[in-house]
Amino acid sequence: MKVYNFSAGPSMLPEEVKSEAQKDFVDYKGSGMSVTEMSHRSKWYDEIHMEALANLKKLMNIGDDYAVLFVQGGASQQFAAVPLNLLVKGRADYVVTGNFAGKAAKEAVKYGDCIVAATSKDKNFTYIPENVSFRDDIDYVHITQNNTIFGTRYTDRTYPVANAPIVSDMSSMILSEEIDVNKYGLIYAGAQKNIAPAGLTIVIVKKDLLGHEKDYCPTMLSYKTQADADSLYNTPPCFTIYMAGLVFKHLLKLGGVKEIQKINEYKAGLLYDFIDNSSFYHNYVNPADRSIMNVPFVCNSDELNAKFVKEAGENGLVSIKGHKLVGGMRASIYNAMPVDGVKALIEFMKKFESENK
Ligand SMILES: Cc1ncc(COP(=O)(O)O)c(C=O)c1O
Repeated sequence: MKVYNFSAGPSMLPEEVKSEAQKDFVDYKGSGMSVTEMSHRSKWYDEIHMEALANLKKLMNIGDDYAVLFVQGGASQQFAAVPLNLLVKGRADYVVTGNFAGKAAKEAVKYGDCIVAATSKDKNFTYIPENVSFRDDIDYVHITQNNTIFGTRYTDRTYPVANAPIVSDMSSMILSEEIDVNKYGLIYAGAQKNIAPAGLTIVIVKKDLLGHEKDYCPTMLSYKTQADADSLYNTPPCFTIYMAGLVFKHLLKLGGVKEIQKINEYKAGLLYDFIDNSSFYHNYVNPADRSIMNVPFVCNSDELNAKFVKEAGENGLVSIKGHKLVGGMRASIYNAMPVDGVKALIEFMKKFESENK
């Protein structure tokens, strides 16, 4: 049975990328070795690593005034690394738009005067706060660009205005829509949704923010350590970076982020239109703040939600159960989810509605 995986992460990878990795797996381009067993100091791996860094720069139009880092520890590690590296005056403001944003803010409090400047908790994180005021004299403002669990995202309308660098957690939207990197001081993202298998975290940091880490900042968490060593200070997750490199090449071949964004908007549009025209399914997010990556929805009762998840799975639409903080369903439709996957979900939703109305 054809399976479409709606998991929030780790998530689907492009079929072409998986086939290519399979072809290379045992003998990478005549080296007689798999990438999984190669030295990270070998010429083969060096090429893979440097090409992946260069292609990410190309895809996101990243200038030479930014360092691109491949690190480990997940986006969660960045909740600590960001304040450890960027707090100089010792103050930062956080906008809490969901679970992960809350975790980031909570972690930062350990290292300085970090406060929640605004939150959308009052309406169960169904919107992005607008026109937020930030304190003067802060080191940065932290936002979560796409809220994976609650299905909201930042747009130009809600983009924060502050006299400080903006730090953005882009874990669940990186490479899904065009963004202007120059508007950010730092961007970070776990790779396991739009880029690669788990194990790699991307950090894009303005070079003038490097080198101010606290003296007790662990060496491995110092952005300068990683930047100075081209992210080869220690053994990187070589195979995951190799997979990321294949995904970057695949995206470039498809026409880059601009083209991917069109497809993503089309896919999300199909699903939201269907939900909005139904009285059986509901999405409670403020329409202007809806994510194009994670689409939460519910039926009219917990029993129907549970039945939906079970029967969807039996029909090849897997991992569609919503996060426990929200309940119901969540369709994560990252870059690698084909249009046909979204259409198959909508067909199933129609059938389920007619059988359970
Ligand atoms: C927006 C966001 N931030 C952070 C995380 C945590 O990422 P990791 O598991 O890589 O630490 C997630 C995971 O789903 C996420 O969606």
